[in-house]
Amino acid sequence: TQRLVIAIDGPSASGKGTLAKRLAAHFGLPHLDTGMLYRAVGWIAAQTGEPPAKVAARLTLADLADPHLRSDEAGQEGSKVAVMPEVRANLLKFQKEFSSQGSGAVLDGRDIGTVICPDAPVKLFVTASPEARAVRRYQELRGRGVDTIKPRVLAEMAERDRRDSERAAAPLRAAPDAWLLDTSEMDADAAFAAALAFIERKG
Ligand code: C5P
Repeated sequence: TQRLVIAIDGPSASGKGTLAKRLAAHFGLPHLDTGMLYRAVGWIAAQTGEPPAKVAARLTLADLADPHLRSDEAGQEGSKVAVMPEVRANLLKFQKEFSSQGSGAVLDGRDIGTVICPDAPVKLFVTASPEARAVRRYQELRGRGVDTIKPRVLAEMAERDRRDSERAAAPLRAAPDAWLLDTSEMDADAAFAAALAFIERKG
């Protein structure tokens, strides 16, 4: 059988992470949330004062286990080091190897379809309105017991979107051959069903 690589990109809280997890489970493929790599580099560099590129060069899967990496603070640190070409270059090999193993893989991030897996047979670009994304993010944070307010979530998201879209190195962008999935009006089940129907249509 053919290898199946599913490349998923999109902004934060677009639903891409949940979708990636569900597609990976469905197809029995390993899943890599590449945002965790940048979060870990940014967070470790901020804690230790080490140059981010050096942290990226020695990063291992064990470094991704820190629960604090899911925080907005780590997300901001991640997006700051993600503008550095050397950091991106030092994380490239790990991601390429992950995507080349066994019968395939599901990767989600910002540059999977454009840089990491340009030849992936399935590319999804998942978006949602800033309002819908902020509401989701807010509910997720509140669910984890984080005390915040919606305007703050919206402002921080806008700041991170801007940095991710305007940077020179691998900016957040849909690959020309990516399928656009707007999840503003969809829950996780509907997004999964839509993506699965698309993949089956292709196959
Ligand atoms: O997806 P997540 O919010 O965890 O990503 C954290 C940050 O890592 C993003 O804001 C982005 O700047 C960066 N990132 C990236 N390329 C990826 C994945 C994430 O630049 N493939």
